[in-house]
Amino acid sequence: MKIDRPVLSAILRRYGVFGSVIENTPIFNGQRLDMDGVTPRIKSITKVTIENGSSFIVKIVKEKEHPTHIIEQQSVFSQCLHKCGVRVPKRLMADTGKYCSIERVCGNYCSVTVEECLDGKELEFINEKYIAELAQIMANMHSIAVANKCHIDLNTIWNIYDPHSDILQGYQRYSLLPKKYGDSHKGFDWGRYKAIHDTYLQKKNSLQKLWHQLPKYAVQGDFSTNNVIVHEDASINGIIDFNIAGDEVLVNDMVTEGIFICYIMDLDKELAEADRRGLFDTFVREYLRTRVLSKQEKEVINDIYSIVFPFLWTRIEILESCLQRGAILEANAFLEETWEILTTPYFV
Ligand SMILES: Nc1ncnc2c1ncn2[C@@H]1O[C@H](COP(=O)(O)OP(=O)(O)O)[C@@H](O)[C@H]1O
Ligand SMILES: [Mg+2]
Repeated sequence: MKIDRPVLSAILRRYGVFGSVIENTPIFNGQRLDMDGVTPRIKSITKVTIENGSSFIVKIVKEKEHPTHIIEQQSVFSQCLHKCGVRVPKRLMADTGKYCSIERVCGNYCSVTVEECLDGKELEFINEKYIAELAQIMANMHSIAVANKCHIDLNTIWNIYDPHSDILQGYQRYSLLPKKYGDSHKGFDWGRYKAIHDTYLQKKNSLQKLWHQLPKYAVQGDFSTNNVIVHEDASINGIIDFNIAGDEVLVNDMVTEGIFICYIMDLDKELAEADRRGLFDTFVREYLRTRVLSKQEKEVINDIYSIVFPFLWTRIEILESCLQRGAILEANAFLEETWEILTTPYFV
């Protein structure tokens, strides 16, 4: 679906931008049918430049998991951060008094947002310096969310008690191993396998009793490198993409998303896989320097780490690959390492 200039100009006018459009560059254009086979799904992201040289990002979305009222809450949160000095793009408000408006585009009613386009390109890799800065930005966002009581009526993909969340993928796959390999892999230490599984559930259940007492506020929820825009001199310009922003227990966002950033994102070519642990230490140290945790938050970080890190999906992929290759000794060593992580406090 190509969005043409008259449509973009009309949208910008509703957002108080009257200069004529001199360039429109599609960044993403997707149109297909939903699972039901009838409802259209639309996602279009366009960079639009007007005659005075200012550029905007116009997002046009029709996806049932991204309803207009949630996009509005995500925009309000993003704009709150912007006003508090966090480097996130400024959101423009439509003539309706809302950030997210409903527009008829190519015959479909879509949710539309307009934001400032940040100069630069997507970050390609992580290193010590970026990790330190990202941790400070995340901690600062958390403090602002608390101070302004920001909320979004949506779970993040890091919610450890929502069986559909991305962070539980690894655990789900671990749970399926007996079905897949139970009969064929006799030398595999199924006793250890089960002990890991049981200990995980025990820890997770006892943590759940404290969960509702922990501060839970709106978070950006996706610090992937492609959502970090860097200037030409490689310094961070800002964080974009509030498309999956939601409410999260803040200390869970720090630990779980911190693990994701440090263990999944591509590394600077100077670094090796073994450096990831050091990057995570840096992440946590810099976060804690910027936002002081409450006593209760401090009490749960070890448990969060010990239930999330062992089941990180990339770790479970390693275990599965051992089993597929029939590398039983390697698989058993992997279980021992997993048991260590699960039962040894990380933060002292
Ligand atoms: N405000 C912005 N400033 C600069 N580039 C942006 C901005 N918003 C989006 N982009 C570009 O568009 C890409 C996709 O947008 P994003 O909001 O991350 O959506 P998603 O990841 O859900 O597709 C980004 O990775 C970035 O390159
Ligand atoms: Mg993105």
